[in-house]
Amino acid sequence: MTYQQNREFVEAIRPHSPDDWLIVAGDVAEKFDDVEWALGVLRSRFAKVVWSPGNHELWTTKDDPAQARGEVRYKQLVELCRGIDVLTPEDEFAVFEGAGGPVAVAPLFTLYDYTFRPAGTTDKASALAVAQEAGVICTDEYFLHPDPYPSREAWCAARIEESERRLRAVDESLRTVLINHWPLVRDPTFVLRYPEFALWCGTERTADWHVRFRAAVMVYGHLHIPRTIRKDGVRFDEVSLGYPREWQPRGWTAAPLLDVLREGDAR
Ligand SMILES: [Fe+2]
Repeated sequence: MTYQQNREFVEAIRPHSPDDWLIVAGDVAEKFDDVEWALGVLRSRFAKVVWSPGNHELWTTKDDPAQARGEVRYKQLVELCRGIDVLTPEDEFAVFEGAGGPVAVAPLFTLYDYTFRPAGTTDKASALAVAQEAGVICTDEYFLHPDPYPSREAWCAARIEESERRLRAVDESLRTVLINHWPLVRDPTFVLRYPEFALWCGTERTADWHVRFRAAVMVYGHLHIPRTIRKDGVRFDEVSLGYPREWQPRGWTAAPLLDVLREGDAR
């Protein structure tokens, strides 16, 4: 929401039907006020809004009055969402009963752990060295603090444990919609312009979640390459808008809304 044109897109979004739910797969903005504004506008339009945090919300930047870092910042974002009735990874998974349902709608927050490594590297240090050689580094290294965890990968491990616990508790007769800012499988990163950037894009530890947890569809953002792929019969939809310089060449005049759940998906 740092970009005026993206704000205008948010202001113009309308549901197709009054019963529509909206999935927001992270990277809404960097500043708390902007996150609250965008999610608040969207909540006023849709029957339900479901949010998973992206790396940008988790950055602690100099010009944001909210200066908390790491897990405290995440928890403050969750409280912000609760104040405007937006569902988060800390809330009970809601069941969508509309077209394509019933499905358990599961916002997740799993981060990354540097296991999407370049070929020939065996650990984080050697992988980062290859990325550095290629001139690739994610801004998270400067602004996404893992406090109180010793590292982002340690925070990731804790998030995986918590997310698995929640997913295991879902009624086994229900299919799921898995929502995570970072793709749960590595495949979407294979088309990155800078393949080394995959280091900051997910974890191998979630590679079978779409099968284990009965996903009808997995929704992610982060890569700024909106498209759909299939793996093991499951659809993976990237729903990012991106920066104006990215969507302008596509000729978009409004934020495209994707129907992620279609008739028959819950079967
Ligand atoms: Fe991102």
